[in-house]
Formats: sequence, structure tokens, C-alpha cells
Amino acid sequence: METIDWSSLSFGYMPTDYNVRYTYKNNAWGEMEITDSQTVTMHIASTCLHYGQAAFEGLKAFRGKDGKIRIFRLDENAKRLQSSCRGIMMPELSLEKFKDAVITAVKKNERFVPPYESGASLYIRPVLFGTGEQVGVKPAKEYVFIIFVTPVGPYFKEGFKPTPMVILRQYDRAAPLGTGTFKVGGNYAASLVAGEKAHEMGYSAVLYLDAKEKKYIDECGPANFFGIRGNSYITPKSTSILPSITNKSLMTIAESLGMTVEQRRVPEEELETFDEAGACGTAAVISPIERIDDLDRNKSYVFSKDGKPGVICEKLYNKLRAIQYGDETDTFGWITIV
Ligand code: PLP
Ligand code: COI
Repeated sequence: METIDWSSLSFGYMPTDYNVRYTYKNNAWGEMEITDSQTVTMHIASTCLHYGQAAFEGLKAFRGKDGKIRIFRLDENAKRLQSSCRGIMMPELSLEKFKDAVITAVKKNERFVPPYESGASLYIRPVLFGTGEQVGVKPAKEYVFIIFVTPVGPYFKEGFKPTPMVILRQYDRAAPLGTGTFKVGGNYAASLVAGEKAHEMGYSAVLYLDAKEKKYIDECGPANFFGIRGNSYITPKSTSILPSITNKSLMTIAESLGMTVEQRRVPEEELETFDEAGACGTAAVISPIERIDDLDRNKSYVFSKDGKPGVICEKLYNKLRAIQYGDETDTFGWITIV
């Protein structure tokens, strides 16, 4: 077996032993297949290729000090995939089928779950897409669902270290009544140009404003935004934000630590008042924000002057990681042990 340098993994694709699949045909999902093939064959008129009829998920499995493998909030990802399916007219996959597929994919690739000490994890990527042929703009009649897994390190190479983000007013990620609340491929295609631009300028991600008024904070690249002011955890509410399972978990953790949680519209000017700010997501975990530059307004909101994460970000991060790795008892019922 090849040796993997677990602690220097980045967030990228590494082939693993197996992936699991279901096919939808004749109005029904079939039985699970397990394969070592890393490719799919599909019709040249598949709706996923032409019309972006495709949705995905992202969740993680962690190896604890006790050697056990823990999957974080599996049911929430299953439900969100169902919501994405409704959003772009794909057949929903049952929670049971989703759960079986995740557990099987992890078990079959157990040797790729990074050791506890490495701080890395196994990223689980479910994807569901239209493979039936259409030329008119219509939903397909056939679909494929696949789960592959790959061991990963931090999404932002700096890990748990504050990085700068940027507001680029000439780009939107999602429209207020569009598909932003669903985890569909098109949203990510729509974010590529702005993301690359931000990276070229030395920023780790784009902080999007609401597309209609350009007034309120929306999301940070592939992650939700939160700000900390005093004892409050404040996170934007909008009709174009993907409901992050990490954010939902952090809100629960913040409340359990006696903090006040506010989920509401957050005007850009309010950035001025935050003591700390962060991006959160499965891949991003908590990525503290060093500063946010609004280039067109010539404004800079600074959250970390010394290059270190703030104390609340650190507290939330430690608590979340402790639950995920099994260092602390999971009192919320978030963990599935494989
Ligand atoms: N927002 C976007 C646009 C994302 O792609 C993700 C990643 O899944 C998130 C937020 C964070 O969501 P979660 O915490 O469920 O991973
Ligand atoms: C995740 O956090 O799981 C994501 O999907 C983010 C990104 C890699 C698309």
C-alpha cells in the first residue's frame, strides 16, 4: 500500500478503492452498486451536461483517538440533497439509501480515513445528476447518484489562520429567487471567475453581497459568513444562501456556550462593528477572516491585527472539532459511528 503523508494533505482529489452508485430508471432508484471505476459513461444529450441538472453534497468522516470513525450530521446532508433535488426537478433519494451509501463508501475505503493525530479527515462527496437524454429544456428521465471519498486537509491552505477576503461588486453568485439555497453545480460554475480573480489578488475567497441591493452580506465563496460582536454570533439570512450544516451546528454550539444567536439580514456597514468574523463550512471548517476589502468603496474592515484567530472563533472551532473527532461527548446527536 502506498504511504500517505496525512498531515500535509491539501483539499484535493486522491483516488481511493471504491465508490458506490445508484441508478434511477423507469421511475425508481435501483440497488446499490460498488465499483472501483473512477469514470461514468453517459449519453451525449444528458441533462447534466447541457442544462446543469446536477447537485452535490459534502460531508466528512473523522477518526478518533479511540480508532473509531465518526461521520458528522449525515441526516442533514441527506435532507439537503433532497431539497436540491426538488430545486432542479430531480428525483429525491431516500434518507435510508443516502445513509447506506455513505456508510458503505466509508467502510469500503476505511484505510483512507486519516489517523487522529494528523488533523485530516475523509471528505465524502455525494453527487446526483441527470443522465437521461433531452434536447428541450426538460428534466431527464434517468439519473445517477455516486458517492466517492477522498482524504483531505484544510480547504484554505492556511488552515485555522485568518486570511483576507474581498467584496467584488461586479459579480454575483446567485440571484435572490434563484438556486442559491440549493447545492447545485451551476452555482459553482457561476462563482469561478470571481473566485479566480480574488485568488490572483491574494484573497482566499469572495465575500458576496446580496445580488439585488448590494447592501447585505450573503456568503463567502463556498462557505457561510458569521460575525462575532461581544457575546453575539451573527449570521446573514437571505434567500440566496446555502443553508450550511456547519453554520447550523455553530449556532447550536454558540447557544450552548451562553451566546446570543442572531440570524438576520446583515448590512455591509455592520462589518465595522464585529470583533471577529469567519467563514464556515464542511471544507472550510472555521476559516477566520483577517480583513474584508470592499475595493470599489475603498474600504477595509479588519478583524485580526496580529494574524491570530479571535478567542470566540477559537472556542467554537475547538468545540466543533472535539465533537467531530470524538474528544468530547456528542450531546447533540450529530455523530454516526461507522
Ligand atoms: N455555502 C456554500 C456555497 C457551500 O458550497 C458550502 C459547502 O458545502 C457551504 C456554504 C457550507 O455548508 P456546509 O457547512 O453544510 O458544508
Ligand atoms: C463543502 O464544504 O463540502 C463544499 O462543498 C465546499 C466546496 C469544496 C464546494
